[in-house]
Amino acid sequence: MRHFLSTQDWSRADLDALLAQAAAFKRCKAGTQLAGKSIALLFFNPSMRTRTSFELGAFQLGGHAVVLQPGKDAWPIEFELGTVMDGEAEEHVAEVARVLSRYVDLIGVRAFPKFRDWSVDREDRVIHAFARHATVPVINMETITHPMQELAHILALQQHFGSSDLRGRKYVLTWTYHPKPLNTAVANSALQIATRYGMDVTLLCPNRDYLLDSRYMEFAARNVAENGGSLTISHEPQQAYRGAHVVYAKSWGALPYFGRWDEEKPVRDAHRHFIVNEAKMALTDGAVFSHCLPLRRNIKATDAVMDSAACIAVQEAENRLHVQKAVMAALAQ
Ligand code: CP
Repeated sequence: MRHFLSTQDWSRADLDALLAQAAAFKRCKAGTQLAGKSIALLFFNPSMRTRTSFELGAFQLGGHAVVLQPGKDAWPIEFELGTVMDGEAEEHVAEVARVLSRYVDLIGVRAFPKFRDWSVDREDRVIHAFARHATVPVINMETITHPMQELAHILALQQHFGSSDLRGRKYVLTWTYHPKPLNTAVANSALQIATRYGMDVTLLCPNRDYLLDSRYMEFAARNVAENGGSLTISHEPQQAYRGAHVVYAKSWGALPYFGRWDEEKPVRDAHRHFIVNEAKMALTDGAVFSHCLPLRRNIKATDAVMDSAACIAVQEAENRLHVQKAVMAALAQ
């Protein structure tokens, strides 16, 4: 049995096949790949795109989705083994995962970090507990990576450039300001998938405190060694944007300040100028711009950039539907 927890666990040939199937679903919505099958979608955090696209994707393939929000409309869950459950949790993931596995054919999990201790959050315990105890495939709907966003992003770039080969494209993953310290998931994902597809990647961030966890920096280095392309770190927006073909924006909290966010805030606040605007985009080689959404306009990117022809964030969001159908169809076989 195969889970979809990270694109790094899947070969390039597997990812390419999923993207081809997703492109086919984009051309023709309906299918029967999930006829008589079902998926439980567990949301520990809010969502608009992920919930809508998974529910509709299952429906369009003849299947059924059940949405659960543990702690809200379903019992709060314990994840530690051997614990005396005298707190809030009413049941253990060992039972939740195994019971759901008797009902459904797939389980999707969204579980963001708790933002107190990165050494704990980086273990991604919630989804790994589901993967350990479930007897059906588990899909990552965003934890400390966001693999469904990765596939949607690559499909959007391939369709924009009219080629499945993205090698030689200069790709800038830029940190942007946000009033709150956000999850590194999409940044980790962008770094690993852009290097996986052989692009010349620049990670643009305010300073070295905003580098991503060593696990993802190492995945990126390994991907470059295996697939070609390059990885550059920059703290200079003017230099990083120059000649770019792709600008992908995301905000995230600096890991060295994890859990001490009041100390990080002045550093973050000093870098509001990392906003994606027309002046920076003018330095590129006609770059396409994207973002995973949701996005605060005129904080992360200006209205002018969001409303420009260069912005493919909505196409990328649409692709979530198609790539997730491809993943669900592949795993439910
Ligand atoms: N991009 C994304 O996952 O959107 P939601 O948080 O709305 O699901």
